[in-house]
Amino acid sequence: MCGIVAYLGKKPAQPILVEGLKRLEYRGYDSAGVALLRSGAIRVQKTKGRISTLEEILDPPADTDTLGIGHTRWATHGEPNTINAHPHLDYTGKIAVVHNGIIENYATLKTWLQNEGVEFVSQTDTEVVANLIGWFYAKQNGESGPNKFEWAVQKALRELHGAYGLAILCADYPDTLIGARNGSPLILGVGSSEYILASDAAAIVEHTTQAIYLANNEMVTVTPGAFSTKTIENVTIAKDLKEIEFSLEQIELGGFQHHMLKEIFEQPSVLTTCMGGRIDRANNRIKLGGIEAHLRELTRTKRFIMTACGTAFHAGLVGEFIFEQIARIPTETEYASEFRYRNPIIEDRTVVIAISQSGETADTLAAVEQAKERGATVLGIVNVVGSSVARATDAGVYLHVGPEIGVASTKAFTAQVTVLAMLAIELGRRRHISSSDADTYIEELVRIPEKIQSILDQSDHIRQIASANANEENWLFLGRGLNYPVALEGALKLKEISYIHAEGLPAAEMKHGPIALIVDGMPAVFIATEGPQYDKIMGNIEEVRARGGRTIVVATEGDENIKNHADYLIQVPKTPEIFQPLLTVLPLQLLAYHAAVIRGHDVDKPRNLAKSVTVE
Ligand code: G6P
Repeated sequence: MCGIVAYLGKKPAQPILVEGLKRLEYRGYDSAGVALLRSGAIRVQKTKGRISTLEEILDPPADTDTLGIGHTRWATHGEPNTINAHPHLDYTGKIAVVHNGIIENYATLKTWLQNEGVEFVSQTDTEVVANLIGWFYAKQNGESGPNKFEWAVQKALRELHGAYGLAILCADYPDTLIGARNGSPLILGVGSSEYILASDAAAIVEHTTQAIYLANNEMVTVTPGAFSTKTIENVTIAKDLKEIEFSLEQIELGGFQHHMLKEIFEQPSVLTTCMGGRIDRANNRIKLGGIEAHLRELTRTKRFIMTACGTAFHAGLVGEFIFEQIARIPTETEYASEFRYRNPIIEDRTVVIAISQSGETADTLAAVEQAKERGATVLGIVNVVGSSVARATDAGVYLHVGPEIGVASTKAFTAQVTVLAMLAIELGRRRHISSSDADTYIEELVRIPEKIQSILDQSDHIRQIASANANEENWLFLGRGLNYPVALEGALKLKEISYIHAEGLPAAEMKHGPIALIVDGMPAVFIATEGPQYDKIMGNIEEVRARGGRTIVVATEGDENIKNHADYLIQVPKTPEIFQPLLTVLPLQLLAYHAAVIRGHDVDKPRNLAKSVTVE
């Protein structure tokens, strides 16, 4: 979604802003722009389209322009065009603003400002912020001197309802950059004699790994060599510098054609990291440091509710099966966007688990708040350290898989399932399963990374399958039990990046309607690994074949029988049924990736999608 980068230092700001915006491209955007403070005035340059388009229109960088703000916009209010692109100037031309989030009361504020004679040029909610700051600034109301800019910002922010991450310039303050946050993340990277304010650490790490993370209703005022943090109510607060935990190298492509492919191939190593330090092999014990203090409560939990969006929701569905199988605790998984509005029943000893790669998804964050209000203990399973969900939850477990840049989530999914599996095993051991069963689960879990590698080795074979089917516009993904959520995930991956229409279904449900869709040559991807439902799914495969459907089957290595039922076969190593999703999802990730590349799509920047959906 939208991205913010701002710079104050000694170097020319423009190239740093442009580089930073490129690092945020993966979030998804439709327009981009920068504003620089030059000779007491603000120069804004912006355009619809890619950052490469912006680079074509930018003035050559000047050594003297050492303060600026930049933005990539993902349209919410107003179509994606150049006028609606950020930065937005206020009506006096003195204030420039870039904004992530949505101002909910923007219409009321706009009407009020228009009645005051303020003219608007765009359809955005952001211009309201710029004009409101500009209005207070112009009116002064007795304030003057060094604090006038800060004062006007605070006055305006107190009027806003909704979410914002903001970077703000004022033409009269050639040495000052202000950032503010409520709901949308904002981080200040603190370098030696330079500062980078950004919505995402990816834009900062090239310059420094020291940073402060703003909390809601906080702002930072940056001047050469110093910064101060306050609430928007003007109460000074001290903030500690934190180390940003991932390196630039982790963000770069490392020889892969796309981030998504790199992240698919990273899964053996990042899952090893995710389990490392948490699984004590010598004693076969699991130690999840972040939730240690809550373990007694978790063991006595009557009901778990997992809540998440997109791929993380599918991980939750898998987790639901694993929790019920191993820990024998009733568990349900809900879309965060549904959970928050359904007046959820949170009884005593209910624990809510929020799952989110970014930790910034607005619906997931709102579901966390809703659950907390109703008295639930809320855990977070999150990748981005220090993100909003991580901070809003009572405790949690980080994925530790490094930054995920590809918009289509891959390694976060398998890590989310791995963390849920570790938690389930530990709870299971404390509740009812024998130590030897727990040991067996642990032994099998730690072998998953090497088994994933053997699937990755089949990437070329999977590309050939993708190539033979990539021109088909409708696909089905079918699985049963734990592999039903994998079918949903496979369909989602294909839709996201190849723009092929795909449906994921519990295989048995096919005959209650979707079977009518099957025509000659339509690809149907079956997950038909060993397990109690194997014979049943074999029947479903035959139902599709009888109607001319083309079967792409993911099956267990050594299954000879399946060869008679599959037009295309992908084999995965044997593993206990509850861990199968950690393997069966791999061929589907690769299938979607190759299909998208074959169809000529920009895999890392799929149309209309955002990596982190920070609006409802
Ligand atoms: C977006 C992304 C998906 C992701 C979902 C949830 O829609 O495109 O890949 O699964 O958000 O994101 P989260 O960061 O909360 O896991």
